[in-house]
Amino acid sequence: MRISVIGCGYLGAVHAACMAKLGHEVVGIDVDARKISDLSAAKAPFYEPGLEALLEDVQETGRLTFTTDMSAAAGSDVHFICVGTPQKKGENGADMTYVDAATVGLLPHLAAGNLVVGKSTVPVGTAARLASLISEHQPDAHLVWNPEFLREGHAVDDTLHPDRFVYGVSDGSEEHVAVAVLDEVYASPLASGTPRLVTDLPTAELVKTAANSFLATKISFINAMAELCEAAGADVTRLADAIGMDDRIGRKFLHAGIGFGGGCLPKDIRAFMARAGELGADQALTFLREVDAINMRRRTRVVELTRELCGDGLLGKRITVLGAAFKPESDDVRDSPALSIAAQLQLQGAVVTVTDPKALGNAARRFPELQYVQDVETALQNADIVLLLTEWQEYRELDPHVLARTVAAPRILDGRNVLDPAKWRAAGWLYRGLGRP
Ligand SMILES: NC(=O)c1ccc[n+]([C@@H]2O[C@H](COP(=O)([O-])OP(=O)(O)OC[C@H]3O[C@@H](n4cnc5c(N)ncnc54)[C@H](O)[C@@H]3O)[C@@H](O)[C@H]2O)c1
Repeated sequence: MRISVIGCGYLGAVHAACMAKLGHEVVGIDVDARKISDLSAAKAPFYEPGLEALLEDVQETGRLTFTTDMSAAAGSDVHFICVGTPQKKGENGADMTYVDAATVGLLPHLAAGNLVVGKSTVPVGTAARLASLISEHQPDAHLVWNPEFLREGHAVDDTLHPDRFVYGVSDGSEEHVAVAVLDEVYASPLASGTPRLVTDLPTAELVKTAANSFLATKISFINAMAELCEAAGADVTRLADAIGMDDRIGRKFLHAGIGFGGGCLPKDIRAFMARAGELGADQALTFLREVDAINMRRRTRVVELTRELCGDGLLGKRITVLGAAFKPESDDVRDSPALSIAAQLQLQGAVVTVTDPKALGNAARRFPELQYVQDVETALQNADIVLLLTEWQEYRELDPHVLARTVAAPRILDGRNVLDPAKWRAAGWLYRGLGRP
């Protein structure tokens, strides 16, 4: 099929490449000329494992092109809307200007029978609004809401082999003409058994925000338990192991640490609360306020704990922060708890050096006042304390014996509870995890 993908960021670039991989003829469109020039040269504009190899692979077939020109969408049968929906400045709600601009920009290029497929995460009600906008211009085009569940760091695999597809259509019916078209787009993953649910438009929009709210709640739940474990002298990692053995609970997403961040969970739960307020259902989501508050408290807790571990205050202390990305296998620093902690420590007078295998460029653009060093060994030299804040594999594998000779004082705060305390203590380190004795 001929497909256009509008918005080529973390979601759209991967989606465009994967659709071409599935055999479709794809044009990726973005307003960011630098991104388009990178993608046209089969260069990933951000770090995502496997993306560059996939881009090279599919561009050789001639099935994937990129442009900044919206008119290139003309002639496509299916148009995916993949632009950003960040948090509005100074407000909790989602900023819909990009989704609206992309849709309006697409209208003149829509033909009868075309499908517009929304993948961005949007406040419930958006799809119905866009559907009437589209039908005013092209009554024979259809809108589907098809939320995206990919995880950065696993985006290629998640797109080619998702857990499920959700199609929201205007009448919520399997017989809707758009269902068969989208089935053709996803023919290959559907044939290999990926389940697909057809819902009405608001349900499809809510599936995404509900899923992210659940995940955020699970993380904040275990972080609340970490607070309690600290107060009671218990170990949250053992507690998570034990409760996670109950099938109804499960061990995934029960990792106590510095909390969640990134370009999705924080802004999605806030936008969800804002939208619930508009709908007069704010009481239903007041618990998310607490989820958010628990999460933000983690960052303050790490700053306090660092001060405690330094003994005589933060002023002039050389602190090395391992990790800037909001999670490993990504260079995304949007609302990264690691960077937010690094910046708070710097503001309180510490001399902070940050290292990360992939995210230093993005980090330096966001917080230019921090010092960035690519090489881990160099970054750790003469550190008074080390903070592990993004659990990249290479940091998990650091040798405490070797490192003890590099730093000024062997003190480590394991913000992700991924190191073996016994091993580090045996190598002479003062080890602190979160929610662990
Ligand atoms: N990143 C993820 O892991 C992920 C996962 C699931 C869902 N989502 C959702 O997908 C959406 C996109 O997220 P992202 O992380 O890819 O954001 P992003 O900021 O990386 O990408 C958005 C892209 O849209 C482009 N854009 C903005 N306005 C445009 C326009 N009018 N026309 C064409 N392009 C335009 C921007 O230049 C940018 O490249 C969001 O709603 C997000 O919540 C993201």
